[in-house]
Amino acid sequence: MTGPHERPRRLRTTPAMRRLVAQTRLSAADLVLPVFVREDIDEPAPIGSMPGVVQHTRDSLKRAAHEAVEAGIGGLMLFGVPAPEHKDAEGTWGTRPDGILNLALQDLRSEVGDATVLMADLCLDEFTDHGHCGVLDSQGRVDNDATLERYADMALAQAAAGAHVVGPSGMMDGQVAVIRGALDGAGFAEVAVLAYTAKYASAYYGPFREAVGSSLQGDRKTYQQDPANATESLRELRLDLAEGADLVMVKPALPYLDVLRQVADLADVPVAAYQVSGEYAQLEAAAERGWLDRDRAVLESLTSIRRAGAQIVLTYYAVHAAGLLRG
Ligand code: PBG
Repeated sequence: MTGPHERPRRLRTTPAMRRLVAQTRLSAADLVLPVFVREDIDEPAPIGSMPGVVQHTRDSLKRAAHEAVEAGIGGLMLFGVPAPEHKDAEGTWGTRPDGILNLALQDLRSEVGDATVLMADLCLDEFTDHGHCGVLDSQGRVDNDATLERYADMALAQAAAGAHVVGPSGMMDGQVAVIRGALDGAGFAEVAVLAYTAKYASAYYGPFREAVGSSLQGDRKTYQQDPANATESLRELRLDLAEGADLVMVKPALPYLDVLRQVADLADVPVAAYQVSGEYAQLEAAAERGWLDRDRAVLESLTSIRRAGAQIVLTYYAVHAAGLLRG
């Protein structure tokens, strides 16, 4: 007999065989859909750099939430887009119960209840007129500890509005501990914290800034991580776990699969990854030109993120992918 003894191709012969031996599986329940809700519009507004994604009105968001529940996806992550006159230096409308994000949380909690997991972005950048994730000191620097006080208030406002999970995305030191303490002190011990553990200062957030009408001038490099660093993410992980994070996240996803793998190997809580706006835009732009097969590339990228260690994936494709998985 000629030829090799071991033949890995034997396990690739038929679709049924490939399905049987597939090591990584995707299911709708692992996917979380980020959604935007905007205050000063009467109709959903398309986002130019994210074809197929819209800024919702409160009504269209309710319909999208029902669609998400029907699709069986794991959850929704809400971002608020306030009217320009509702932005100020402290991001006051992020903590007011009548701020757009808190109103939308109330809407969805009464609309879909506990049928899906409602997550709220806990960050000031959409609500500040300078666009930073925190409040500024007299010299214009992001003031870590003053920001923590605002985050504590924001956590309470979001919990009161019905969030099951709050997701601090501002990368302030100590944010998880302060938020946990505030929630516990106010009777919200059941509200979970999804920590943005490794969050890089990334060009891939570009389209998101359009999606939330960001006012940011400059960058976030004094609080988000340098793309050159991996080990630092393990330090962030150690701190977030010690501070009581219930879930941890790596963001962006595809350019940081190595970081995701290292975090997943060490974390004893569920690990999430965020396929961000620029990852979405990149796939959409190529698909629109016919240069990539959209659906195959979507499933391949999500599978890769799961394979690298993410149990949960935040993706603008969540509902679309759920449809593909149903076949
Ligand atoms: C900050 C926040 C950002 C994203 C999620 N939360 C933007 C930023 O850090 O500049 C980006 C998400 C995406 O690009 O899809 N609130």
